[in-house]
Amino acid sequence: MTETPRSNLVREIYLAGARGQTPPLPTDLTALGEAARAVLTPAAYGYAAGDAGTGATGRANREAFKRWLLLPRMLRGTARRDLSVPLLGQRLPVPVLLAPVAAQTVVHADGELASAQGARDVGVPFVLSTGSSYSMEDVAAAAEPGSDAPADGAPMPRWFQLYWPADRAVAESLVRRAEASGYTALVLTIDAPTFGYRPADLDHGYLPFLNGAGIANFTSDPAFRAGLPVGADSRSVAAHWAQVFANPVLNWDHLPWLRELTSLPILLKGILHPDDARRALDLGADGVVVSNHGGRQLDGAVAALDALPAVRAAVGRSVPVLFDSGVRTGSDLVKALALGADVVLYGRPFLYGLGLGGRDGVAHVLRCLLAEVDLTLALTGCASVGDLTREVLALPGVLPVSGPLGGTGAAAPSLHPETTNEVSLI
Ligand SMILES: Cc1cc2nc3c(=O)[nH]c(=O)nc-3n(C[C@H](O)[C@H](O)[C@H](O)COP(=O)(O)O)c2cc1C
Repeated sequence: MTETPRSNLVREIYLAGARGQTPPLPTDLTALGEAARAVLTPAAYGYAAGDAGTGATGRANREAFKRWLLLPRMLRGTARRDLSVPLLGQRLPVPVLLAPVAAQTVVHADGELASAQGARDVGVPFVLSTGSSYSMEDVAAAAEPGSDAPADGAPMPRWFQLYWPADRAVAESLVRRAEASGYTALVLTIDAPTFGYRPADLDHGYLPFLNGAGIANFTSDPAFRAGLPVGADSRSVAAHWAQVFANPVLNWDHLPWLRELTSLPILLKGILHPDDARRALDLGADGVVVSNHGGRQLDGAVAALDALPAVRAAVGRSVPVLFDSGVRTGSDLVKALALGADVVLYGRPFLYGLGLGGRDGVAHVLRCLLAEVDLTLALTGCASVGDLTREVLALPGVLPVSGPLGGTGAAAPSLHPETTNEVSLI
C-alpha cells in the first residue's frame, strides 16, 4: 500500500484552491477530449479520438459502462484502501497500466518519452507500442528513475506491445531488443491485421506513420534496416515500413514460434470471444486483454465490457485477464475490475493529457484517475481491489426483495421488463 492515499489529491486541490490556485487541467476525466480538441490540430485530434466507421463500437463501449451501476455497502470502516494487485508474479502498485498507443508525437513533441515519465511520476506502469515515435531503448532510458524522480521512485514494470511484422527477422529482432532493454512482458495485439476504416483519418488523408511519426522502432532496427535500399530516403523508408509493419496472414499457427522465441510472458490483446481466449492459453499465452481497440478497428463490434464476463468465465479465476476500451473514470475502472478484469489499460484520456500538458498532463490525468478509484473503493465499502466482486454491481431497475413485501410476498416490479428482479442484482 502506498504511504499517501491516492485520494489525498482531492484534499491538495481544495487546499490549493484556498490559496487561489485551481488545477491546470480538467479533473473531469470525460472532459479531456474536448479540452484536447481545442489545442490540437484537427488531424491530430482526429487521429487520437477517431473511431472506426460510424463510431458505433466506440459509443457501445461507453454505453456498456452506463448499464452497470455500483451498489455501495455502508459502515465498513474502510479508512485506507489497498490499490495494489498481483499480476504475472509481481505486485503492481495500482490496477492500471498505460495502454499501448502509437505515434504519440502526433499530440506532443515529447511523445512516449513524456508519457513514460508522467506514468513513472505517479507510479503507473506502461505498455509501449511497436508504433512508438521514440525507440524502445530511448523510452526505457527515459522511464528509469533519475535525478528528477521522486525520492521513492522505484522502477515501474514496463511492457512491450508487439505488432507482429510481416518479416520474421524483424519480429525476432523487436522481441530480442525488448528483452535486452528491460521490458518484462509482451502484449501481442491480434485485432489489427490491417488498419480499420477510420473516417477521421481518411477525411484528413492523414496516417502519421507516413509522416515519420511512430516508426522509430523500425528505423532503429538492424533487421529492418537490412531490408532498405542503399541511400534510402524518407519516402522509401515509409514504403518499406508499409510492407513490413503489419502481417495480414497472421494466424494461430504462428503463435508457437513466438512462444518458443521468448520466455517473457505473452498476453494476447484484442480478445472478445471466449473460445479465442481459451485457444490463446492452449497455445502458450500467459493471459489475455479483452479489448476492441477502443472501437478503432471493427465498427459494429460488441462493447468490450460486454465480452469481459464471458472471457473471465472461460479462462477461470487464475489467468490474467486485462481489459480496455471505454474506461474514462475511476468508477468505470472499478466496474471493469468487478466484472472480472485483473488490471485495466488506460487509453485515450492519458493521450489527451499528453497533448494538453506533456509529462505533467499525463501525470495529472493519472493522479485524478487513481484518486477517483481510491474514493470509489471507499464509498463502495471496499478496503482493497481484491474486495471488488459482482456483489458491488447492479443493473438498472428495482433491486430484488429478499423478504415478504407489504405482506403480499410479491417482488417489486422491475423498471425494465426485459430484466427480471432475480438478475437485476448481480
Ligand atoms: C491513437 C491511438 C493509437 C493506438 N495505438 C495502438 C497500438 O499501437 N497498439 C495497440 O495494441 N493498441 C493501440 N491503440 C489501442 C489502445 O491500446 C486501447 O486498446 C484503446 O485506446 C482503448 O480504448 P479507449 O482509449 O477508448 O479506452 C491505440 C489507441 C489510440 C487511441
